[in-house]
Formats: sequence, structure tokens, C-alpha cells
Amino acid sequence: MPVALITGASSGIGEQFAKLLSSKGYDIILVGRNEERLNKVKKTLSTKSKVIAADLSERKAVFDLIESVKDLSVDILINNAGFGSFGEFTETELKNELEMISLNIEALHILTKHFVTEMAEKNKGAVLNVCSTAGFTSGPLMATYYATKNYVRAFTLALRRELKEKGSAVRVCLLCPGPVDTGFNERAKVTFSVPAMKPETVAKEGIDGIFTDKAIIVPGLSNKICVFFERHLPEKLVSMVCYRIQKRKRDRI
Ligand SMILES: NC(=O)c1ccc[n+]([C@@H]2O[C@H](COP(=O)([O-])OP(=O)(O)OC[C@H]3O[C@@H](n4cnc5c(N)ncnc54)[C@H](OP(=O)(O)O)[C@@H]3O)[C@@H](O)[C@H]2O)c1
Repeated sequence: MPVALITGASSGIGEQFAKLLSSKGYDIILVGRNEERLNKVKKTLSTKSKVIAADLSERKAVFDLIESVKDLSVDILINNAGFGSFGEFTETELKNELEMISLNIEALHILTKHFVTEMAEKNKGAVLNVCSTAGFTSGPLMATYYATKNYVRAFTLALRRELKEKGSAVRVCLLCPGPVDTGFNERAKVTFSVPAMKPETVAKEGIDGIFTDKAIIVPGLSNKICVFFERHLPEKLVSMVCYRIQKRKRDRI
């Protein structure tokens, strides 16, 4: 059976990735901090699965995860675990931001390094890195979160290009959701200013994107339009608009 390793599989988009890939016949390695929730997700799957409770904001835990699956051949890696935070940079908590950088950037980087290297040797496999529409611009009032997702975008697309240039069959794709109805908001302490998509819809687009080897997967028309403007309008203008949208969220809190 092919194997998929999914970080952040205990809720939201990650839980839906697990269900979808299991329904396609993949054995699933479910990773997250909340073991109880991971076991609940495990019970809903139709294929074999393994729960690994780990706090991936700790570097050692990331290497321990790699060690604990060393006998398995991972066919699909989904770097999905991540979180955001909201507020003026001068007022937000440094500890929380360093944890965010460790999870959103460092853990994703280490896992990609390990599994893509293995996949490249076998010339097969796929990685889906979960980014965001936030990955295409600076994000005042969510400065650190947007910056982490810019890293994910730039890193993932560069890696994809390297593999394509070598003629590698390994697929590396980027999923860029806009607002999704998950636990994300609660942790980031924000409310969305536009309607959120369902996590199952976003996960399905992500999985379809892996199988069709799509470089940048942006679920939903309004998010596609948003990304188009982010990529084509002057950064100063996009950043000003973003500030005003974020500020409205703060005013509603
Ligand atoms: N929701 C949105 O609007 C939105 C939009 C764009 C992009 N995204 C991205 O989508 C991804 C999934 O988020 P979501 O919306 O599905 O939110 P979610 O429901 O809060 O899921 C986040 C997942 O990450 C895991 N996680 C958090 N901290 C972790 C840590 N230190 N170590 C290991 N796992 C950790 C959580 O599991 P535990 O709590 O069990 O650790 C959970 O399974 C994130 O990368 C997020 O940035 C979300």
C-alpha cells in the first residue's frame, strides 16, 4: 500500500487530507500534538494508519518523527501543520512567533529535505506544502504569519523548479487557501472578513493538485482573483489594502 504522511492531521484541512487519501487506498501517518484527536481521526479511516503525537515546533521532535518512520517508504508528504497570530508586531508575543517560525518554516523545511531526498533517489513521490494566499504579499498585523508563508512559497517553487530541470518525476506542489472554516481563527484570534471555504473542499483541491502535478493550487475563484492582484499590483498598494482588511478584523474583536 502507498503511504502518506500528513502533519497537522488532527483537525481542519489536515484531517480532510487524511480521509481523502485513505479513501484512495493510502496508509496514513497522522501527526499532530493532540493524540486523542489523532486517534479519533484514525478511527474514521478505511486503511491502515499510525498516530504520532509530536510538537513539531521542537526541532528534536521533527528528527524523532523522521526516525520513527524510517522503515516506511513515504509516497506523499503533506506539510500542513501551521498556525498564525494577529496583532501589531510591537505588541505580539515573541515566544509565540518563534514557535510559529519553527513550525511553519523549520519543520516543513526539515521534513521536505529528508523525504524529497529519499523520493528523488527513487524518482517517485510527491510533496504538498500548505501555504496560503498570505504567501504572496507582506501582511501587516499578521506580519510573522505572512512572512512564514512567503518562505513556504519561495522555497517550494524553487525546489519544484530544481526537480523539473533535472527531469525528476517527484512532484512538489503548493496549496494556497484563502479563509477556511477550521480551528485556525481561534488560535490566530481573528475573524474572517469574507466567507470561509469548507476544509473538505480545500483538501480535495490539494489532493487533485498533487495527482495532476499542479505547481500552485489556489482553491476558490475569489482567492484566485486575490492572488492575481497580489502578484500583479505594486507591493505598496497590496500591503496598504491588506492592512485595512486586517484592521477591520481587529476592530470587530
Ligand atoms: N484556515 C485558514 O483560513 C487557512 C488559510 C490558509 C492557509 N491555512 C493553513 O492551513 C494549514 C492547516 O490549518 P487549518 O486551517 O486546518 O487549522 P487547524 O484546524 O488549526 O489545524 C492546524 C493543524 O496543525 C497542527 N499543529 C499546530 N501546531 C502544531 C505543532 N506545534 N506541532 C504539530 N502539529 C501542530 C494541529 O494539531 P494539534 O493541535 O493536534 O497539534 C492541527 O492539526 C496551516 O498551515 C495554515 O496556515 C489555513
